[in-house]
Amino acid sequence: GRVWTQVEALSKELSEQTVLVRARIHNTRGKGKSAFLVLRQRTATVQAILFADDVTVSKGMVKYATQISKESIVDVEGIVKVPENPIEGCSQKDVELKVTGIRAVSRAAVLPFELVDAARSEEEVKAAAERGEILATVGQDLRLDNRFLDLRTPANQAIFKVQSAVCQIFKNTLLAEGFQEIHTPKLIAGASEGGAAVFRLDYMGTPACLAQSPQLYKQMAICADFDRVFEVGPVFRAENSYTHRHLCEFMGLDLEMAIHEHYFEVLDVIEKLFGAIFDGLATTYAKELAVIAQQYPFEVPTFKPLRLTFPEGIALLQQGGYPDVDPMGDLNTELERALGRIVKEKYGTDFFVLHRYPSAVRPFYTMPCVDDPAYSNSYDVFIRGEEIISGAQRIHEADFLTQRATECGIPLDTIQSYIDSFKFGAPPHGGAGVGLERVVMLYCGLNNIRKTSMFPRDPKRLTP
Ligand code: 4AD
Repeated sequence: GRVWTQVEALSKELSEQTVLVRARIHNTRGKGKSAFLVLRQRTATVQAILFADDVTVSKGMVKYATQISKESIVDVEGIVKVPENPIEGCSQKDVELKVTGIRAVSRAAVLPFELVDAARSEEEVKAAAERGEILATVGQDLRLDNRFLDLRTPANQAIFKVQSAVCQIFKNTLLAEGFQEIHTPKLIAGASEGGAAVFRLDYMGTPACLAQSPQLYKQMAICADFDRVFEVGPVFRAENSYTHRHLCEFMGLDLEMAIHEHYFEVLDVIEKLFGAIFDGLATTYAKELAVIAQQYPFEVPTFKPLRLTFPEGIALLQQGGYPDVDPMGDLNTELERALGRIVKEKYGTDFFVLHRYPSAVRPFYTMPCVDDPAYSNSYDVFIRGEEIISGAQRIHEADFLTQRATECGIPLDTIQSYIDSFKFGAPPHGGAGVGLERVVMLYCGLNNIRKTSMFPRDPKRLTP
């Protein structure tokens, strides 16, 4: 076997060595007897030069190389050289390859857009426009129609590294806190979150649903003495809302745990978890964050644990220019963002918990407060004033649950086995559901959830 080298490993230390790389043609310039190629492997780039000296490289070979289309995959054999001047625009700027052999492995068809255009920041386009220059950009629909190509840009490569990191930190932190990973069914009999936002399907002749969350099943796991559980899995919502933050399928990071005295025990875990996520990203993934910021400028968000009650949040909004806000209603996007700005100014954190929501705006399984059932032991968590988590202490008595489901208009027959699971003794418990795409979107200050979903599903998109 021959030894393959990674483009990102090409450095001065390999000077005069012959290496073999498999990479894409990022760019090509031909000039008479020579050709200058930029080879790209994921986000690493290096210049490769062919010169027709009629000894190792023929004129035919130079011509062959310049005719390989952009984004094609090539195998290149070359000698590592140290150029007189650094090669600006390449990540491996201290070296270049003197090509001794090149072969197209997989040729790319004509591109629907140029990757350099897809990788350009809005700021760059604006600045150029001010100079009277027009730079091409690529619209979101065209990007998403060709997502397999769009995903090759440096910012996208970094976004999905960050997404992977959030999942890893989620798992590792919860495992260290004594949680166990579980997997619950996605084909289920009834709506788990109620309402109309459910995909219905036929299950061997029986009406069924795609799970709107692992809610009912993670609770049944608690009833089965699993004590502390988490799940990372797809969540389906038939929400016909075409917004910057709603998907029809997203990744749910769920957790559920038995509690002893107070739902604050869940909030303690959530704060520990997000402390670890914020910390881990800012330290271990600083490089990826910088790459994302090059295309989509943002400031790394600040984290300080902060818990406000819902009434406290309402008071902040009332004092902060929203005197008419309904103290018992849910917060809309505008109010949430406004609260986020007020909190940032007053407490200096982009992350906060709002708890003790009015019962009327929470799901049927939410535990009301003992001192005032108009409120509930529930919470939402925000980054930059947008919701990333919702959760609560749950009702753990079958009779009370039946009563609440009935009051909320949930057909009992579809959730009977869930209700039954509380008949044989169930510990007090609570948990939360985190939207993975929202966490990455809001952490990175991105303006659209489609940017953090690899192949987004929204009311208008089912392909690719
Ligand atoms: O607020 P949701 O619907 O709560 C639940 O699913 C509960 N079972 C959670 C619990 O444990 N009590 O969803 C939880 C989170 C939201 O905070 C949001 O981050 C995300 O999931 N989310 C969505 N993300 C993308 N697209 C959508 N349509 C989303 N709906 C909710």
